[in-house]
Amino acid sequence: MRILSIESSCDETAAAVIEDGRKILSSVVDTQIDTHALYGGVVPEIASRGHMEAVVRVTERALADAGMDKHAVDAVAATCAPGLIGALLVGANFGKALAFALGKPFIPVHHIRGHIAAAYLAYPDLAPPFLTLIASGGHSELVMVRDYTVFDILGGTRDDAAGEAFDKVARVLGVGYPGGPKIDKLAQTGDPGRYKLPDSQIKDAPLDFSFSGLKTAVINLAHNAAQKGEPIAPNDLAASFCAAVVQTLVPRLARAVEQTGARRVVCAGGVAANSFLRAALEKMAARMDVSLYLPPLSLCGDNAAMIGSQAYYEYLAGNVGTALQNAFATADIGENICQKH
Ligand code: KG4
Ligand code: ZN
Repeated sequence: MRILSIESSCDETAAAVIEDGRKILSSVVDTQIDTHALYGGVVPEIASRGHMEAVVRVTERALADAGMDKHAVDAVAATCAPGLIGALLVGANFGKALAFALGKPFIPVHHIRGHIAAAYLAYPDLAPPFLTLIASGGHSELVMVRDYTVFDILGGTRDDAAGEAFDKVARVLGVGYPGGPKIDKLAQTGDPGRYKLPDSQIKDAPLDFSFSGLKTAVINLAHNAAQKGEPIAPNDLAASFCAAVVQTLVPRLARAVEQTGARRVVCAGGVAANSFLRAALEKMAARMDVSLYLPPLSLCGDNAAMIGSQAYYEYLAGNVGTALQNAFATADIGENICQKH
């Protein structure tokens, strides 16, 4: 089954053709980063307009790269939740209209389920159940994937997502948007022990975490230094921050491994591209003797290939959208967005 998939939940307009959930026939990602970088973050209205301008071109390129005519696809999928609502509506309505015009099924896909499915593309033999750490710009959660469309949330952030914290700290350091890759690069030459940063524990919820205290600590540190006229070492602060994020995420994941007895662990989402997190996860996996599945960097950030992969399993589970299918700014990973109103 060959699915044409579309992703437009944030600042990437993407389209892909995926075969049987596992094989990438084409994948095109058109990013708006340069536009939003001018404003230091994503401007939702500009993102929506950008998707409208790009979606036809990107879809045509994905079909051409796959060597396919649009009539040859078996279904059309699009991210319908969660994300920026105006941005989501562009891809969702375009995908829905195209599906119905072609007389093919329309498959709505949950963006975070898609991030997890990136691992199916990278590891053809991977199948549920497995434990996942999701760390993206909008979400940070520990999720047990019991089956392709069955998820248990074990813990998550109480405030900011990991990627959001990276982006805020990057702003404080004045290194621009998006923060994650820039902080990662700066940190390569930094001393992670130079600045002491907190790990906020949530009382009675050992698998939950918080990034707002960490973010505030970095902001305060930078402001105090500025007031005293003391220079801060950006690479040391970046390294200390990366270490603090790793120290927040990895021990909780290890705890979840112990608690669930999971033998397979996936890390997904934009922050899964972080070199320090990847190294710490490799170490944890070796120490705990669990198999670790880390998608390549090209599949960690937003793309439509992961949406096409998850769409295949949604289709097999009967999760097909009607002409009334809507898009939603928020939706739990466990929710069936076909039935959401
Ligand atoms: O998953 P994603 O592409 O979009 C959402 O669904 O949110 O994640 C984007 C986030 C951004 O906050 C970005 O700064 C972060 O992922 N990110 C990174 C790295 N690359 C991207 N964070 C830390 N280290 C990186 N190398
Ligand atoms: Zn994403």
